[in-house]
Amino acid sequence: MPSTRSAEQLTKYEKIESFVKGFKLSGSAYKRVMALLHQEMINGLKHHSQGGADIKMFPTFVRSLPDGSECGEFLALDLGGTNFRVLLVRLQGHDVEIQSKTYLIPQRIMLGTGIQLFDHIADCIGKFVVEHDLQNHQLPLGFTFSFPCQQEGLAKARLSKWTKGFRCEGVVGKDICQLLQEALQRRTNCHVEIVAVVNDAVGTLMSAAHGDRNCEIGLILGTGCNACYMEGLDNVGTWKHGEDQDHHPRQVIINTEWGAFGDNGCLDFMRTEYDHELDTFSINPAKQIMEKMISGMYMGEIVRLVLVRLSHENLLFTSADRDCNLFERGRFYTKYVSEIESDTDEFFRNTKQVLDELQVENYTTEDCKVVKYVCTLVSARAAFLAAAGLATLINRLNKQDMTIAVDGSLYRFHPRFHNLMCLKIKELVKPGLKFKLSLSHDGSGKGAALTAAVSLRLRNLKMTTSGEENGKNLATQTISVKA
Ligand code: GLC
Repeated sequence: MPSTRSAEQLTKYEKIESFVKGFKLSGSAYKRVMALLHQEMINGLKHHSQGGADIKMFPTFVRSLPDGSECGEFLALDLGGTNFRVLLVRLQGHDVEIQSKTYLIPQRIMLGTGIQLFDHIADCIGKFVVEHDLQNHQLPLGFTFSFPCQQEGLAKARLSKWTKGFRCEGVVGKDICQLLQEALQRRTNCHVEIVAVVNDAVGTLMSAAHGDRNCEIGLILGTGCNACYMEGLDNVGTWKHGEDQDHHPRQVIINTEWGAFGDNGCLDFMRTEYDHELDTFSINPAKQIMEKMISGMYMGEIVRLVLVRLSHENLLFTSADRDCNLFERGRFYTKYVSEIESDTDEFFRNTKQVLDELQVENYTTEDCKVVKYVCTLVSARAAFLAAAGLATLINRLNKQDMTIAVDGSLYRFHPRFHNLMCLKIKELVKPGLKFKLSLSHDGSGKGAALTAAVSLRLRNLKMTTSGEENGKNLATQTISVKA
């Protein structure tokens, strides 16, 4: 009898395996991803091919990293996930003091009109300014706006499309700084000057580069997934803004927006039925394909779709009620994946807690094992794909020692993401290149303030060297860039 039982077991596991094998990819599959990604990046950097490229490789107008001498008091805004934050950042060399408050963005605003969104943001800023008694301060503001933008200046950025959970009407193609400025005038009497708008990946890089000279890549693994890096200006065919040779090295941070990689179908060779289903039911079908295989907004849902499939095949939760939350779209959060993978013994405490939250009844320890197994496969593929992206950038930059600044809830809270990524990057980078992944603290807040500070420092330098008077209204001046 025991031998018959184990034969039955084997069959069950073989069956499970056939439903998840698409997540196990060979080293050569990731090398193929790297080659395709690099080609797409090159297309995005060239003037004649950027239009057709999925990865837009937006030049950011951030051309200098902080040197540690930045100081002053700044407001910073962070918009891009489910929350909106307002921060007061005090910089004094390497000392940074931050006070912040988080405000919820209700779904009706995320899917409403641009006016509603910016009015809501302005209201939050108004409240923050009053609470911190800043009404009479003329504060420079750094705005972390974590969506793809075509920048026309450090403080001028046109939204190219919405991503993640946002889809506010009437914003695509508009300058988001102007929209914010108008909302501030409508709703508050705050005196702020928007000095810089940055992507969260850029903020993360700026924040880490403040203390580490080897840091030239920024990565976000949060609700979305994106990377930025410092590129030589000669390679940026889309840079048409002249140069300020006096104060900037010939380089610019590129916001890759690599989440859109695969939108042309080039990743279809590695997408599973679950990826296709997730995409079909998303608010942006056929868009952000790479992001949908990696980031926090989607990973839990991929796991859920696999579990549902296994359950329909009677390989999992055979006596669960089909009306429980597990069978509802969006109910399996990515934080569950992190929690489940944090279980290290056979008691499966976290896994059981998650299954209880999802109202799954009568599950067995065997079920817990399968659930954890599915989580490990989905998150390993996500980590390896992100690693392939980073290895592409590390190889391109070809520097001996490279620090990559990383931020985002997925990276912070997942117990194995860091190690999985390091393992895969080692396998994929050119021999001899060393790298370090380093958690960047408060990239969005500190990074936006630092970008504003660097820009003001360079602006003052420019005014001093060109003999311009100091009292001029900062907002009306071109920032370090000749139009
Ligand atoms: C999405 C956005 C991108 C952002 C990333 C992480 O990919 O398009 O701008 O950096 O999410 O928040």
